Amino acid sequence: MPAVAPPDPETLRAELLRPGGLWTHIDYVSETGSTNADLARLARSGAEPGRVLLTANQTAGRGRFTRAWTTPPGVSIALSILVRPRRPLAEWTWLPLLAGLSVADGLTACTGLGVELKWPNDVLIGGKKVCGLLSEVVDTRGGECAVIGWGINVAMDTAELPVQTATSLLLEGERVPMTEVAAAVLDSFAEHFGTWDAGERERVVAAYARHCTTIGKRVRVVLSETESIQGHADGVDESGRLLVDGRAYAAGDVFHLR
Ligand code: BTN
Repeated sequence: MPAVAPPDPETLRAELLRPGGLWTHIDYVSETGSTNADLARLARSGAEPGRVLLTANQTAGRGRFTRAWTTPPGVSIALSILVRPRRPLAEWTWLPLLAGLSVADGLTACTGLGVELKWPNDVLIGGKKVCGLLSEVVDTRGGECAVIGWGINVAMDTAELPVQTATSLLLEGERVPMTEVAAAVLDSFAEHFGTWDAGERERVVAAYARHCTTIGKRVRVVLSETESIQGHADGVDESGRLLVDGRAYAAGDVFHLR
């Protein structure tokens, strides 16, 4: 008996598929290698954007920096989407931030937990990582698309965590059905993506800034093995870069100092 119910695609379809809405197909598979790789393959073979693919049993998950993303079966959601923004490609740097904002909002909506966003898109509960996300650009005959995938730790126990700096909703005291979690994240993404894609960047920046606890703190940004800076995180700029003492940083490991 799983700790929480697996995703129910019929319920997700009934809740999320609407005429004119972002989502056109919601597919659930009982097991797959990587939901991101599956959607990228579908996109290259002509599938249109608007697709969602999810499983609770991903066997060859992909993480950032070509790392593996490994999870035991039945305790986390692998959820990927295929979208084609109208914004110019140079602005797609916002997609990982939108994806982080959406999962933070979604998890806040379906739990009573305080969910923090550490720039750019680390989703934390009590300082521990509850979700990893990977945003990839895919070349297709119809133009570039983005595949965005979330790995959400729903029901892992301590022994199942990949690292002790991770957590799960269950370990934080929330037993939430996977259908509810996925619906909340997809709903939130559709809203934030719609706002951003319509060119209302200020609203998205404001929503991001409300959730991102990096902003307003003193931070250390590790830029490389030999270089790091410290300063006050003032906000994010129009490309989603972190502004520290007025200078913009596109990438780096951030540590909150206070
Ligand atoms: C990270 O390294 O933190 C990112 C992990 C992203 C994992 C998700 S799970 C769903 C989707 N499919 C994948 O193969 N990876 C992403």
